[in-house]
Amino acid sequence: MDRALNLDRAETFSFINPWIRYFLFFFSFLFWVFSLLIIAIGVYAKAQKTTDTVRDTFLIDPAVILIVVGVVMFFITFCGCIGALRENIHLLKTFSLSLTLVFLTQLAIAVLGFFYSDQTRDALGKFMKKAIVHYRDDLDLQNLMDYIQKEFKCCGWNNYTDWSWNLYFNCSFENPSTERCAVPYSCCTPIPGEAVINTMCGFGVQTQNYLEATKSIYPVGCADKAVIWIESHLLLVGALALGLALPQIAGIVLSQILISQIQDEISSVL
Ligand SMILES: *[C@@H]1O[C@H](CO)[C@@H](O)[C@H](O)[C@H]1NC(C)=O
Ligand SMILES: *[C@@H]1O[C@H](CO)[C@@H](O)[C@H](O)[C@H]1NC(C)=O
Repeated sequence: MDRALNLDRAETFSFINPWIRYFLFFFSFLFWVFSLLIIAIGVYAKAQKTTDTVRDTFLIDPAVILIVVGVVMFFITFCGCIGALRENIHLLKTFSLSLTLVFLTQLAIAVLGFFYSDQTRDALGKFMKKAIVHYRDDLDLQNLMDYIQKEFKCCGWNNYTDWSWNLYFNCSFENPSTERCAVPYSCCTPIPGEAVINTMCGFGVQTQNYLEATKSIYPVGCADKAVIWIESHLLLVGALALGLALPQIAGIVLSQILISQIQDEISSVL
């Protein structure tokens, strides 16, 4: 009687919590599917491109960054997914260690970016300068710059005179371009009630002073506007950072718990 009870108990009792195991499995599976999506978008973007201007501008092709991030994520989540499903300690340890490395790298970048904010701003400024110089060479780059300027209601990096970095908008006297001293249309402030859009509103703006320019365009540079945006959206920035960090921390903690439960299970059987 006693023996039968003990046997029953031995068959049903497990150190491994099924909730933790299946949660880790589904959670990894979700991000595994997501990683496939990221890779697909990266490959699609890469295949679409016929010119290399964006790659030359940013040193690394953004499509390649997407593919690399997707592939790394694919392998990490694969380890978590199969590790949890098969209760495989090696895969779970690989999952936990790689996730920890990724998390610490992101943390280091965030902390360095915060403490070296002036250097971060300069580095971003170099990218923006290249984007302004190559504005007319690549449609994606042009769309990106136009989007930034319209969305943040800004013009240039420091201010609107930055557009002189571009061959077409350069404001030097010897420039034969018809757009000499102009700024792109995306700098223009929309005029309420105006039926016909004046695409020439940015013409000659670089010769005007700040007050005159204010009448037709956003005179403030995108660097200052970005700082203002971050300061007024601190809650959103914090929420985004938390949204990025929490799943990683959860993955590390849960996989560690599962590893120790599997080890307990193994030693109880032995
Ligand atoms: C625009 O920025 C440049 C560089 O920071 C500065 O030299 C120039 O005076 C600024 N112009 C205006 C109109 O604010
Ligand atoms: C504009 O073009 C002139 C002549 O090519 C050049 O010397 C000048 O540096 C350019 N301006 C800017 C801001 O790059």
